Amino acid sequence: MSATGQEKDLTPPEISARKGKAPLVCLTAYTTPIARLVDPHCDVVLVGDSVGMVLHGLPTTLGVTLDMMIMHGQAVRRGLERALMVVDMPFGSYEESPEQAFRNAARVMAETGCAAVKLEGGEVMAETIRFLTGRGVPVMAHVGLTPQAVNAFGGYRVQGRGRDAERIRRDALAVAEAGALAVVLEKVPETLARGITEEIAIPTIGIGASSACDGQILVVDDMLGLFGDFRPKFVKRYAELGQAAEAAIATYAREVKERRFPAAEHVFGEGPKTVNGEEAA
Ligand code: KIV
Repeated sequence: MSATGQEKDLTPPEISARKGKAPLVCLTAYTTPIARLVDPHCDVVLVGDSVGMVLHGLPTTLGVTLDMMIMHGQAVRRGLERALMVVDMPFGSYEESPEQAFRNAARVMAETGCAAVKLEGGEVMAETIRFLTGRGVPVMAHVGLTPQAVNAFGGYRVQGRGRDAERIRRDALAVAEAGALAVVLEKVPETLARGITEEIAIPTIGIGASSACDGQILVVDDMLGLFGDFRPKFVKRYAELGQAAEAAIATYAREVKERRFPAAEHVFGEGPKTVNGEEAA
C-alpha cells in the first residue's frame, strides 16, 4: 500500500485527468532501490535519459542508447507498484519518422513494461505523437529546454524569453492537440509556464518552470544532493546524500587503515552453522 492509498499503477488517462487538480508529483529513477523509494510518493516515475549524465558520466544525453533505456527501465519496473512509469526515448531513436518512433517505442514498452514513453520536441514532433498515440503508445511530450538539442541551443539556456515565448507556446499547443498525455515544460519563464498551463488541456509538468504548472519533476539525484556540484537554480536540494556518502566512505577507509574495521561483531568464530550456512557467533 502506498502513502496515498493507491494499490495499482496509475494509468496515462488518470494522469491526464489530473489537469488543474492536485499537483502531480514526479521524479526520475534509474534503479530498483530508488524506484522503491520514490514509488509511494510519486504519480509519475520517469526513467529519464538524464541517466546517461547522472549514472554513466556522459557529458550530455546524446550518447544514451535504446539498450541503456531498456536496461534501466527494466530495473525501475521491478521497484514500482503505484506510479505511472514513463521511459525516455533517447536521441536518434524517434526523430527520423513516425514509423521509426513506433518501432522503438513498442520495443521499449514490450521490454520494460512501461505504460508511456517521453520524447522531446514540439511542433516538429506533433505528427509522430499523433501516430504513436493512435497506435497504443501513450506519449509524454517535452518542450522548452530540450536537452537532446543542447548543441542547437548552444547550451542549457532558459527558453521562451521575450519574443521566443510564442515558439514554446506553439510547441505546447501542438503536442497537446496531437494527443500527448502531459507535457514537460523545462526551463521557461514563469509567465510563459502559467499562460501555457491555462491554455492547454493536458497537464504541464514543470522543471525550472515555476509552481504555475500542473505538476513538478526533478532528477532524483539532483534533489538528493547526489550529483556532485551540479546546482542549477531550479533544483532544491532536499538532502545532501553525496556529502553523507563521502563522509561514510572516508570513515570506512580510515577504519580499514587503522584495523578498526572489521570489529569483533563482524568476524566469524568457530561456532556451529545456522540454517543460512553462516556461523552463529
Ligand atoms: O531525462 C530526464 O531526466 C528528463 C527530466 C529532467 C524531465 O527529461
